[in-house]
Amino acid sequence: MTNFSKRTIPPTVMVIFGASGDLTSRKLVPALFNLSIDKLLPENFFLIGYGRKSVENEEFRNTLKKSLNSYSRRPVDEKVWSKLEPNVSFHSGAYDDEKSFDSLKSKIEEIESSVGEPVQSIFYLSTPPSGFLPILENLGNSGLARLHHNTSSASKVIIEKPFGRDLESARELNQMINRRFAESQVFRIDHYLGKETVQSLLVQRFANTIFEPVWNRNYVSCVQITVSEELGVGSRAGYYDRSGALRDMIQNHVMQLLALTTMEPPSSLDPEAIRDEKVKALQAIKPLTVDTSHAEVVRGVYTEGLVGGEKAIGYLEEDGVPNNSFTETYTALCLQLDNWRWKGVPFYIRSGKRLKQKVSEIVVQFTRPPAILFGQNSQVPLSPNLLKIRIQPDEGVSLSLNSKTPGLETKLQPVNLSFGYDTTFGSNTPEAYERLILDALVGDGTLFIRGDEAEQSWGLLSPVLQSWNSQGTAGLEKYSAGTWGPLAADKLLLHRGHEWLTN
Ligand code: BG6
Repeated sequence: MTNFSKRTIPPTVMVIFGASGDLTSRKLVPALFNLSIDKLLPENFFLIGYGRKSVENEEFRNTLKKSLNSYSRRPVDEKVWSKLEPNVSFHSGAYDDEKSFDSLKSKIEEIESSVGEPVQSIFYLSTPPSGFLPILENLGNSGLARLHHNTSSASKVIIEKPFGRDLESARELNQMINRRFAESQVFRIDHYLGKETVQSLLVQRFANTIFEPVWNRNYVSCVQITVSEELGVGSRAGYYDRSGALRDMIQNHVMQLLALTTMEPPSSLDPEAIRDEKVKALQAIKPLTVDTSHAEVVRGVYTEGLVGGEKAIGYLEEDGVPNNSFTETYTALCLQLDNWRWKGVPFYIRSGKRLKQKVSEIVVQFTRPPAILFGQNSQVPLSPNLLKIRIQPDEGVSLSLNSKTPGLETKLQPVNLSFGYDTTFGSNTPEAYERLILDALVGDGTLFIRGDEAEQSWGLLSPVLQSWNSQGTAGLEKYSAGTWGPLAADKLLLHRGHEWLTN
C-alpha cells in the first residue's frame, strides 16, 4: 500500500531463519532479487541465511543462484546478482543456542560499522512453528529484538504461517512476540494479501462510487468466496494432516478476503485504520453451529477420482497420511454478520484440495429485480446481477447484466461486462512476496495480519475445530477428487435458495 517514492529504506540486514527451506528458494530469494532488479532494495542490503546445517557462504550463494534460475519471474540479470551476491552469507546455529545469536549480533554490528550508520535488522521466521519460541526468546535475550528501537532502523520480525493452531496457541504466540517486539515491529504474513487482485479489492470498493450504495443487505442476496485447488497434499502430508482445510486456508486467506469484502470504509489508508475495520468486520461474524446436519458447516475429504483427466488417489492413500486420519481437505461454511450493513446476508465460503479447478473468486449476488416488466413468465425469474472478482487465475472483474437478445421478440439473456488484468495491464505483475517484503522493509503493516485479527479469526473457528475433534469421522463427507466437493456443501446453499456460482 506504500507509496515508495516517498519512503526511504535504511540500510538493511535480513536474516532468514529456515534458510534451507522451500519457501526461501521458491519465494523469498526470487522476491528479493526482483526487488533488486527494480532498484527497490536499499543500496546497503545484506542477506544472512540462518540454519542448523553447516553451510559455507559460497555454497549458500550457489544454491540461491540456482533457485533464482528456477523460480525468478524474470531472468537472472548477472549485473544485479553480482551486486547482491557478496552481501549474502550463511550463519550456522541452532534456534535454541544463545551463543549463535550472540555471534549473529556481532556479525550485524560488524556490518553496521562497515556501513557507518544504523542498519535495520529484519528477522524472517520461515521455520516450522516449533522454531518460533526459541528464536523469539533468543532474539530478545541477545538484544537483537530491541536494536534501534523507536528509530526508523528498528528491528522487525516477519512471521510465516501457521500462526497458531487454535485461539489458545495464537494468543500464546502473540504474547510471546509482544514480550520481545512492539506490535509495530511485527509482520504476520498472509501471502493472499500480497496478491495484486486482493490489494485491488479495496480500490474497487472505495475508489468507485457505484458499488458502495448497493454493497449491503438491501441489494445483496448472498456473497460467495471460493478458494479451490486442483492439487492434493503432495509431499506435505506431515504438515497438512495436522492442519486441514480450515486451518490451512480458511482461518487466514479466506477470512482475509471476507474481511476486505465486508469491512466499512476506513477513515484513511493508515495501516491501523484499515486493520481496525477488518477486525470490526470479523467481530461481527456470528458464532457457528457445528453439528452433523451441516446446517452451517460442512467438511469433507477427497477419495480417488480424476483431476484434469488424470487419475488421482484418495487422501487416505496419500504418502504420510495415517489410516485413521479424519483431517478435512474441504470446508464450506455459511457465515452471517450481525451488523447494520450485512444482517441477513449469507456469506458462503469454501476451500478445498483436489477440486475441479484452481480458482479464487469472490461473487456478489445481488437481489433479483422485481419481475413486473420483463419477468411476466413467473416460471423464468430474471437472473440476478453478479459481480465476480477473480483473484486468480485469469485475474479480473466481471459484472453480469440482463440484456435483450437481438430479435423481434423480447427475450432476455445475461451478458458480461468484463475487465481482465492481463489484457489491460499485461502480465508481468510482481509476486505477492515482492510486495510483502518491500512493505516490511518500509515498515508498512497494512498487508499484514495484526495480532487481534488473527485471534478474532481463531476465536470464530476454534469451536468448530473442537467439535470436529470430538466427532471424529462422524459428519466427515466424502467427495471424489476432481469434483466441486461434497453434496452437503451444495445443500448448504440450496436450503437458502442459492447455488454455487463458481463452477
Ligand atoms: C498456502 C497453503 O498458504 O496456500 C497451501 O498452505 C496452499 O496448502 C497455498 O496450496 C495456496 O496458495 P495459492 O497462492 O497458490 O492460492
